[in-house]
Amino acid sequence: MSSGHASPPPPAALRQRLAGASAKADPPATRDDAGPSPAATAVQADSCVLVIFGASGDLTRRKLLPAIYNLAESGHLPERFAVLGVARQAIDEATFRAQMRDQVRKVEGEPLEDAKWTAIERRLHYVSGEFADKAMYTRLRQRLEHITAAAGVATNYLFYLAVPPDLFGAVVDQLGAAGLTDEAGGWRRVIIEKPFGYDRESARALNATLSASLRESQIYRIDHYLGKETVQNILAFRFANGIFEPIWNRRYVDHVQMSVAEDVGVEQRGAYYEKAGALRDMVQNHMFQLLTLVAMEPPISFRAEDVRDEKVKVLHAIPPLSPEDIRNVVVRGQYEGYTKEPNVAADSRTESFVALRLSVENWRWAGVPFYLRTGKRLRRRLTEIAVQFKRAPFTLFRETPVECLHPNVLTIRIQPDEGISLSFHAKEPGPMERLGTVTMDFTYAEYFKSEPETGYETLLYDAMIGDQTLFHRMDIVEAGWQVVDPILDVWREDPSFPLPQYAPGSSGPAEADQLLQRDDRQWRC
Ligand code: BG6
Repeated sequence: MSSGHASPPPPAALRQRLAGASAKADPPATRDDAGPSPAATAVQADSCVLVIFGASGDLTRRKLLPAIYNLAESGHLPERFAVLGVARQAIDEATFRAQMRDQVRKVEGEPLEDAKWTAIERRLHYVSGEFADKAMYTRLRQRLEHITAAAGVATNYLFYLAVPPDLFGAVVDQLGAAGLTDEAGGWRRVIIEKPFGYDRESARALNATLSASLRESQIYRIDHYLGKETVQNILAFRFANGIFEPIWNRRYVDHVQMSVAEDVGVEQRGAYYEKAGALRDMVQNHMFQLLTLVAMEPPISFRAEDVRDEKVKVLHAIPPLSPEDIRNVVVRGQYEGYTKEPNVAADSRTESFVALRLSVENWRWAGVPFYLRTGKRLRRRLTEIAVQFKRAPFTLFRETPVECLHPNVLTIRIQPDEGISLSFHAKEPGPMERLGTVTMDFTYAEYFKSEPETGYETLLYDAMIGDQTLFHRMDIVEAGWQVVDPILDVWREDPSFPLPQYAPGSSGPAEADQLLQRDDRQWRC
């Protein structure tokens, strides 16, 4: 029987993490004097079984198992814990364990510590079967009963749906029919991967299916960007420092640009990507989350509902674009060679790149453009948010050429080279009044001596402690689709909407540069 089930919800992990950070009088100079470690302040996760549907898939191998390994390493896993993998592949438990060991070793890039891996390995179990087969869920229930009884693990189940999106509803239906969503015997939570629907209507339909078996408090709509340290740090940066908030508005900010560039193509995910495209794959979820964190008002607390209330308001403040606007402020593109990728149609019109200009029409941001850009097969992997401030008045620098007077830019580097920098002017040494641009720079690696993890560590841990702050609430999903749907409609209805090709390794189609040039601005990189 669960200990966590009947007790009141534990305090939010995010609130804890932020409280832990602000408890330090001064930032640490090195990791050694970094104050209380997260483990020292963290809520103990409930004993539970993590059931992964899609255990032979890419996500499990590349992210979920490595995240579990990292959680074990940092002491955040409950002592009594098990993982039950579910997949079609008819393999035995020993083979599953060996496969996982190889994969985690590959991701870690170094030999695994034997004692640590062995402790995880004996908690790994496997059951094979078809997701649509009712009998498989009976076997699953029996395995769960067996595992929990044998290893003294509480009967709390965290189901992770790492399966193709068209199976989300079917798996939850089957879980419900098998009595596996009923919380009488312990908590039951379901993590749903993205995309949540293909548009607002299908998202609503999916939600209705899930709601037949689950309450909202049991649904964890995951967005792995919210698990990234640098993304969570946006809130700490904005709200734990008094100096930025007064200038974080239309009076001082000229515009905001967000880029999520990838150097890889669609790789083996052509079948999925063909139905998604860059707008659904990256903008409606990850990029809108970045946008809400940058633009939201301070929440009244870090409780899940307070944070999510403020986030959804930002999305509601984005006016839906008219078909005419869409032709002016939305650019899409496709990399050369995309149609030759495996499982991609030879005449595919799926976009692998999108750039757009949005506005957030509220008191704080009216008139400040937000430029968003994402694409695959670009020059380099880079995710960053740049807040560009208005230029200083020229009065004192009449003699200085305009191009030398750069505006101040605050750059939040999400990945790689995680950190934050602020550019400003300084006088160049010498008798002449010459200005140079310099930067104040903070990098995670240098300051905290920490390597970025997969992002899934935090999210799995939060799901285990029942904290939904970093997961999407249904109204946030709907609000995201509300912005994106009109664009998808125009693309569908107008086959002549341009889909320029761009060279792999470039920075995308020239039309994306022109989008900013028309506003007298340019992408930073
Ligand atoms: C996923 C998208 O959600 O995010 C992928 O489906 C994309 O297409 C990936 O490659 C990017 O994640 P990250 O963490 O590498 O920036």
